[in-house]
Amino acid sequence: MAVPFISEVKRTHNCGQLTAANVGEEVVLFGWVHNRRDHGGAVFIDLRDREGLTQVVFEPDSAEAHALAGSLRLEFCIGVRGKVVSRGKNVNPKMKTGEIEVKATDLTIFNRSEPTPFPIEDNIDTSEEKRLAHRYLDLRRAPLQKSLMTRSKMNALTRSFMHQNGFLELETPFMGKYTPGGARNFLVPSRMNPGKFYALAESPQLYKQLFMVAGFDRYFQIVKCFRDEDLRVDRQPEFTQIDVEMSFVQQDDIFTIIEGLLKKLWGEVLGIDIPTPFLRMDFYESMAKYGNDKPDLRFGLEHVVLTDLIREHGEAGGVPMMFEAVQNKGIVKAMVIPVAKAMSRAESDKLEEFAKQAGAKGLARAKVGEGGEWTQSPLSKTISQALRHAINQAVGAKTGDLILFQFGKEALVHTVMANLRVHVAKKLGLIPEYGSGGQWNFLWVVNPPLFEFDEETNTWAAAHHAFTRPHDGDVDYLLTDPGRVKCHRYDVVLNGFEIGGGSIRLHDPKVQAQVFKALGISDEEAQTKFGFLLDALKYGAPPHGGIALGMDRLAFLLTNAESLRDVIPFPKTKTGTDQMTGAPGEVDDRQLRELHVRPVPPPQK
Ligand code: AMO
Repeated sequence: MAVPFISEVKRTHNCGQLTAANVGEEVVLFGWVHNRRDHGGAVFIDLRDREGLTQVVFEPDSAEAHALAGSLRLEFCIGVRGKVVSRGKNVNPKMKTGEIEVKATDLTIFNRSEPTPFPIEDNIDTSEEKRLAHRYLDLRRAPLQKSLMTRSKMNALTRSFMHQNGFLELETPFMGKYTPGGARNFLVPSRMNPGKFYALAESPQLYKQLFMVAGFDRYFQIVKCFRDEDLRVDRQPEFTQIDVEMSFVQQDDIFTIIEGLLKKLWGEVLGIDIPTPFLRMDFYESMAKYGNDKPDLRFGLEHVVLTDLIREHGEAGGVPMMFEAVQNKGIVKAMVIPVAKAMSRAESDKLEEFAKQAGAKGLARAKVGEGGEWTQSPLSKTISQALRHAINQAVGAKTGDLILFQFGKEALVHTVMANLRVHVAKKLGLIPEYGSGGQWNFLWVVNPPLFEFDEETNTWAAAHHAFTRPHDGDVDYLLTDPGRVKCHRYDVVLNGFEIGGGSIRLHDPKVQAQVFKALGISDEEAQTKFGFLLDALKYGAPPHGGIALGMDRLAFLLTNAESLRDVIPFPKTKTGTDQMTGAPGEVDDRQLRELHVRPVPPPQK
């Protein structure tokens, strides 16, 4: 008679649970056939569920189960009942349940499986495209299951930490009004309002500020955000933030909460106690030493800015290209590869290729000889002895060191040198290609400028958004010298990744008006674009500030993943498509007409 599995015979354990302590018990397990071996009369399988594997053996003495076991194939979904027996001398120490096996008395096949397009194993070399096309099978693999279980735990830990600290979890709309600035939005046409569009929220920024105006005091949300950006290893078009806003706070109060939350996540997920408070670094120091505002502090290879030195030596320095760059408002930077990590000539030549891919015209190099002279370098022919000596001193060069130089437009020099620094660190084995290597270097980058100069439009633009509070001491420069205004914005950085960012907000309408003026935004324009927030700030808005952490990036770092796609159940590919469902897909003309949208034929390839 068929055993009434599920309806009456319920699961007693999961597949990662049984140990020697359970020997002799009758158990019921449900799961998938992970592998299968026939040994003479007996059929052995490993049964798998999200918790692990358990060996099940079917022997001829349970004739019905044994006969059915003969038809089992990989990935069949089954239920078994049986007795836990010791494996005796055949203990498998690699398996959590390796001390025992289940001697099956009953078996049911819930569902058969076709041969899968790739094996359900931890390490496979199947292309990512194929894996994503059958993501439901890919997600059966243990490493992905583990990562998503970690994410689930992170959500639970975040909620409990935030609730304990007096935060309310409040929801905000995904479909909002388009406001300029920030990332490019996805737009949703409105059927009921012809010609009008909603914008999918790139973050709940304005709404969370309105919660503060409304008096909710402490808000958080684990929330999806949507940005139509070019994708990179740490970027997805829809991603998740732990979004936070607080009233009556200054920067330090926000740092304390976020450090507490990260300490809890690292403690509970990895069992690692991360020291707090985190190191803080001025934005300009970070740019000078590391070329960006998200430095990886697991290794040195700091940059040295030589701009002033080159200017001082002028034409007499004998490096006209560098001097010219400085005269054209550019900068000069150097970085030393120490002799202890010496590279071959061929390897250092390859660095030039790398620099070019990052946008550089070339990569000047000099090898330092015993008397401080430079070799292997065209620079050595023309440089004055005085400048060479000064540079050697400035970069702290020793015999055998290799100095790398970059000069030209500030932004490009920083970017090339920042990329080069990380590339060299990986090449020299200072950090692994992926993952933390067990080092967790948290950092706050603080006091950045409020505005960025946009060379294309020749105007100042808000570096973050128009509602960031400038330093009180810099308010007088808002209109006279915008470039020197610093603000209360901060990023939290881990091992070279920006894991969060936020700011103290402007709640003073007078200063707000000056910021708009500096940005060239007229009163009417401000009113059309941000009217509802400006109105709200007129009604006794409390001083407030906040931050958002990138949940996907946290999960990616906590699990030492290779890409954000490894910690997102159903991610998009680099071109923003979903390999499994085929999104984005075409829609028919009728739907478009209903939405008052007229299609433009795609460009000819
Ligand atoms: P910001 O734009 O810095 O700030 O975003 C906060 C954090 O979100 C993560 N993040 C992303 N993760 C994956 N894919 C993306 N495309 C992506 N874009 C951003 C990063 C980043 O640090 N409203 C403000 C926060 C505030 O001021 O309170 C905001 O969204 O880890």
